[in-house]
Amino acid sequence: MTDLDPREYYDEFAEGEWERLDRDPVTRMEFENTVDYLDRYLPDAGRVLDAGGGAGRYACWLAERGYDVTLVDLSSEQVAIAREKADERGLVDRVTAERGDVRDLDFDDDGFDAVCCLGGPLSHVVDDVERATATAELRRVARDGAPVFVSVIGRLAMLRDVVKFDLERSSGLLAPIAEDGDYTAERVERHADGEGWAECHGFRADEFEAELTAAGLAVERLVGLETVASRMKRELADADPDAVADVRAVVELLREDRAAVDWSEHILAVARA
Ligand SMILES: C[S@@+](CC[C@H](N)C(=O)[O-])C[C@H]1O[C@@H](n2cnc3c(N)ncnc32)[C@H](O)[C@@H]1O
Repeated sequence: MTDLDPREYYDEFAEGEWERLDRDPVTRMEFENTVDYLDRYLPDAGRVLDAGGGAGRYACWLAERGYDVTLVDLSSEQVAIAREKADERGLVDRVTAERGDVRDLDFDDDGFDAVCCLGGPLSHVVDDVERATATAELRRVARDGAPVFVSVIGRLAMLRDVVKFDLERSSGLLAPIAEDGDYTAERVERHADGEGWAECHGFRADEFEAELTAAGLAVERLVGLETVASRMKRELADADPDAVADVRAVVELLREDRAAVDWSEHILAVARA
């Protein structure tokens, strides 16, 4: 059986995860749109959990703004990189990075003034019941009223990815993913010659909102982080900077439009505990 275990994938991906959000105009839109909402909703100071924080991009951004950040991630390699990045930036006093699992957070109730789970960690919890547990964990560790920022992978963009890049080999994946959003090792084995990415769950916008609400979070905004630029990395990588700026402006204009949210590569929820 193909091994598409997220932990192994991110251990191997290593430094690539630090570079991910600065690789091309589209990934920069993911980062810029996310921090735009963090800026608007974060309290002035306090303790922030960065669950599934990877190599620490957001943790360093938060620490540079004076927050006390605790990062946890399933991958020890990512945790090591996050420590290194915080150290290089003189942020070790404000960033703690430990191995941890969003399905079972080793923290007291109500301990954080804000909680982040960004760039898809919840999407890597494919099992519905485990994902409900993970979402409830994010709620549990946030103090009442704290902002909780969660971004996940969009299902429609996942499907477009297969159509655009991998149709010959993987067209059999389309129907099952459209049905329930699950990209699993078993399906990749059956429909895509066993070659694939880490297992993940692609969300529809309504489903995402419903799962957060079921965990006791009040969703204030759903944001498409890339909207019309989703899966356009190659097209925008070499585009004229003025044209990219035009795309960026339209992405921002449409980022809370529900249809555009649903078609986005990443969907951010801004919620309250
Ligand atoms: C695409 S990366 C995003 C990292 C970071 N938040 C960012 O946006 O740059 C997804 C991260 O989720 C982590 N992850 C996956 N499943 C997890 C789990 N159950 N608990 C904690 N982290 C998890 C992976 O190890 C990986 O570092």
